[in-house]
Amino acid sequence: MRQTTISEKQTFEFAKKFARTLKGGEVIGLVGDLGAGKTVFAKGLAAGLGIKQNITSPTFVLMKVYEVKSLKFKVKNLCHIDAYRIKSPQDITAIGAEEYFNRSDAITVIEWADNIKKILPKKTRYIKIEITELKKRKIINCQ
Ligand SMILES: Nc1ncnc2c1ncn2[C@@H]1O[C@H](COP(=O)(O)OP(=O)(O)O)[C@@H](O)[C@H]1O
Ligand SMILES: [Mg+2]
Repeated sequence: MRQTTISEKQTFEFAKKFARTLKGGEVIGLVGDLGAGKTVFAKGLAAGLGIKQNITSPTFVLMKVYEVKSLKFKVKNLCHIDAYRIKSPQDITAIGAEEYFNRSDAITVIEWADNIKKILPKKTRYIKIEITELKKRKIINCQ
């Protein structure tokens, strides 16, 4: 899968559609520079799961867990992790994030996933977002 988007909205909509292909149990690892659109992607993913809450990057708290209320999905939680500020991958294991990786009724989305590759499961689907121009992003599914 490769996609070029030319606005924040397009990246959001792309992630929203992508969310609807997920069944539960997926771990989505987002990789890309600061400002690439990882948080925008996470917001789109949440919207696709019918989450109405405002999604903000969990840069300082490392992890936020949202409830999926819509009965259309068997997924119960979206776990959003931001590994930007961690000193070691153990910072993420210490807060119990791994519990979500193995749950078939949760979807995990991780910003700066390359920082914690060591502790991510084999099944992790890495999505790379590349800044090609001011408003252009290349979204590459690496698996
Ligand atoms: N095609 C695009 N897709 C996503 N974001 C874009 C795009 N073009 C411009 N932007 C801007 O890039 C920034 C992405 O921010 P953010 O999602 O917080 O990045 P990250 O979480 O990767 O650091 C936003 O300010 C957004 O408006
Ligand atoms: Mg971010």
